[in-house]
Amino acid sequence: MTTAMQHSIPLTSIPENTVFGKGDIFVLFGELFGRGYATGLIDAAKAAGMDVIGITVGRRDDTGALRALTSEEHAAAEDNLGGNIINIPLMAGFDMDAPEGGQNPTEMLSGMTLDNWQEFKLDWDQVDRCREVGTARFTQSLGQVMEQLDGMIPEGRNVFFAHTMAGGIPRAKAFLAIANRIYKGRGARHMSSQSLLDADLGKLILQNFDEVTAITFGHLLDLSSALRERIEAGGNQVRYTAYGYHGTRVLIGGEYKWQTYTSYTQGYAKMRLEGFAQDAWDKGVKATVFNCPEIRTNSSDVFAGIELSLLPLLEALRKEGGGEFVDDLWAQCQSMLKDDTSIEQVLKTVGDYQQNPAMQPFYEFTGWPKANSAEQVDMTVGTSQDIVAMHKDRKALVSDVLSSHVLDATGQLIFGSASDPDGPVLWLDHDVVARVLIG
Ligand SMILES: NC(=O)c1ccc[n+]([C@@H]2O[C@H](COP(=O)([O-])OP(=O)(O)OC[C@H]3O[C@@H](n4cnc5c(N)ncnc54)[C@H](O)[C@@H]3O)[C@@H](O)[C@H]2O)c1
Repeated sequence: MTTAMQHSIPLTSIPENTVFGKGDIFVLFGELFGRGYATGLIDAAKAAGMDVIGITVGRRDDTGALRALTSEEHAAAEDNLGGNIINIPLMAGFDMDAPEGGQNPTEMLSGMTLDNWQEFKLDWDQVDRCREVGTARFTQSLGQVMEQLDGMIPEGRNVFFAHTMAGGIPRAKAFLAIANRIYKGRGARHMSSQSLLDADLGKLILQNFDEVTAITFGHLLDLSSALRERIEAGGNQVRYTAYGYHGTRVLIGGEYKWQTYTSYTQGYAKMRLEGFAQDAWDKGVKATVFNCPEIRTNSSDVFAGIELSLLPLLEALRKEGGGEFVDDLWAQCQSMLKDDTSIEQVLKTVGDYQQNPAMQPFYEFTGWPKANSAEQVDMTVGTSQDIVAMHKDRKALVSDVLSSHVLDATGQLIFGSASDPDGPVLWLDHDVVARVLIG
């Protein structure tokens, strides 16, 4: 495995697609849900005339068993994707897997409560066996998916694999309450994210994050190698991209500075994801992790205050040139705020938060991802709530408007960059995102 990065590596120019066109194949490795990052990339691929093929994570029946989509679900998912979906469930992680007759990790956690979780011990041999079962299930299904995919790709096509999988929080009842305390708990309700990592529960969760967020990319690279060789032997090209997160450079006090959402325990898995891209790159395979800005999606809503990193994009848009699009966007965002407040006030609130001395230790690139602290959570969650309260409607937020622009811009950047990527790990910061949006 590669050594840890010492600083971020920003994408600095806006690259053009020179490889992919009509009839080439775009494979989405993850299921598409509304407003997620993948929608921007799929739009870019479709605009270039590519055909889209997707997969499904499958669904669970009442007993918890994983199943394929019903024909109705399948049709709806294909409609949503605008492409064919190979209907073999590719749910990753081992939280619901177990050897015949044994308990799966979610069942092993059933005796855990909000009171005993820190001392709650797991049988690690059993966890290992569950992980082996989960890996065997996933790789076997992926082998079948690759066989089908191979038959769907005629000679003469280029192929773009886009990995989007991230997750792995087990569905143990007590964990929801614990997660709420860790991501949102202020004052007496604060719970340190380090205490989670110190507990068996946290160690299990980190393993499952690794499986879903990172190792699936490794399996994809491995199990698509025969297909890759066939495509390349025919004189065509194959690319792999994945969505990473490792902080973002945003405008703070008039300068672009690296910052991060805290606490992002998934960060260990995201660094492992970077490692898979680096290893593939070293072997001559063009695989790139694009570390993307913080936006609000179904998956990121658990991270209270993540949008504080996003709001300064409004300032970046002015710094990178402004113009009519930017003026209209500012006006649209202003109209979402209460009459007695302004975008300038929102941005000042975010700026004061990001420049507060208490936040500075969290903005050190090395040592990421850092555990939270009571003071930091109080500021992150408190500032987030203050800004929500400045809106007319708590369900129509400036950060939602900005999120949808960021996913469009990153879609174009990732798509363009994949033709001739600069390296295995690249950061899409607010400067380059703003420049794409300004056009
Ligand atoms: N939202 C952000 O702020 C942000 C920032 C940087 C990177 N990202 C990354 O972008 C990618 C897409 O996330 P998003 O925020 O758009 O949310 P999303 O909910 O749209 O996407 C999550 C993806 O993970 C897949 N997934 C979840 N659990 C899975 C499991 N157990 N097995 C297999 N697949 C599973 C889903 O099918 C979906 O494709 C993720 O890799 C995420 O980490 C998000």
